[in-house]
Amino acid sequence: MDQELMRVGISLPENLLNKFDEIILHRGYSSRSEGVRDAIRSYIVNFEWMSDVQGERVGVITIVYAHSQRGLEDNLTEIQHEFGGLIQSSLHVHLDHDNCLEVVVLRGEGQDVRKAAERMMSLKGVKHVKLTTTSLGKEL
Ligand code: NI
Repeated sequence: MDQELMRVGISLPENLLNKFDEIILHRGYSSRSEGVRDAIRSYIVNFEWMSDVQGERVGVITIVYAHSQRGLEDNLTEIQHEFGGLIQSSLHVHLDHDNCLEVVVLRGEGQDVRKAAERMMSLKGVKHVKLTTTSLGKEL
């Protein structure tokens, strides 16, 4: 079913747009709009996948962020304390002058693991968050 197309205007940092344009050129998209539609679909699929994470899980959250963002490290620490009952371990790597990587391993109810990841994703200055989950291996 063909849907009516809506026009939206968005503001993006130049380097992000340049990188996006590079990728859609490389992948052979016919237009920037087609690339954006695909990116939004991936975002939705990922959200739906995260909403489906149920039962006891081990989760690994990988976060890349700009450490110069005011208040961000405090907020990340606060979230980790809030979910302290789930967190098994964390690792911090100073990637370069501007960027830090944090890997947090959690264990608990899948939806709580998801909530922790979503809280981190929504913070300003966070560039990338990836959540992977695995079972505890008992039933495998
Ligand atoms: Ni660092």
